[in-house]
Amino acid sequence: MMKNCFAELEKTGLVPVVTLENAADAVPLASALLRGGLPAAEITFRTSAAARAIALIREREPEVLTGAGTVLTKDALRDALSAGAQFVVAPGFNPSLAEETLAAGVPYIPGVMTPTEIEAAMAIGLCTLKFFPAEAAGGVKMLKALSAPYRTVRFMPTGGITPDNLRAYLALPSVFCCGGSFVAEGRRIAAGDFDGIADTARDTAALVRSIRGGDHV
Ligand code: 3PG
Repeated sequence: MMKNCFAELEKTGLVPVVTLENAADAVPLASALLRGGLPAAEITFRTSAAARAIALIREREPEVLTGAGTVLTKDALRDALSAGAQFVVAPGFNPSLAEETLAAGVPYIPGVMTPTEIEAAMAIGLCTLKFFPAEAAGGVKMLKALSAPYRTVRFMPTGGITPDNLRAYLALPSVFCCGGSFVAEGRRIAAGDFDGIADTARDTAALVRSIRGGDHV
């Protein structure tokens, strides 16, 4: 399951990071991502709608790989897992949340931005990590330097990713996918502009394909 999850995220290339104010927007949002060819979403636990949103997507749009983001507490983690989250992402590395997530058989992708944090995650067997906040932490140059000694670690840069810098990140061999909120911005969700979100997803999927020479769909 973990392998499949990472393979799916890699195939997608850019995982939309989504914050939903209303769980009722979850299925139209997931359908838009699927239509646009980016069938994955990280639903952040920054709003109380997150768990219900994940459960709805799992039930009604099961082709969309749906994870939980901004998981900071045990309560949020339990809500995410009960809702059926297929992966769990956090801005930082929390060993007890990591253990609880892994015990449930679900991938945990913690945020890191220093060698010490990478080694702490590696010490419990994690080798698929989020580089966060990517742009503010030094961007491609920093990630390239960080990747050099940790050859078994693969990164999902998130934080400041745009269509303009996606190519530079995906070109790094240590990067398996990126995360970004630009595909499904809050203002477009609030406006019900799901067709616009599908269009941006489509453009982003095409960009990922062009970066990877059409090998991944
Ligand atoms: C966030 O902090 O909201 C996520 O990491 C995504 O960052 P972004 O909004 O810069 O894409």
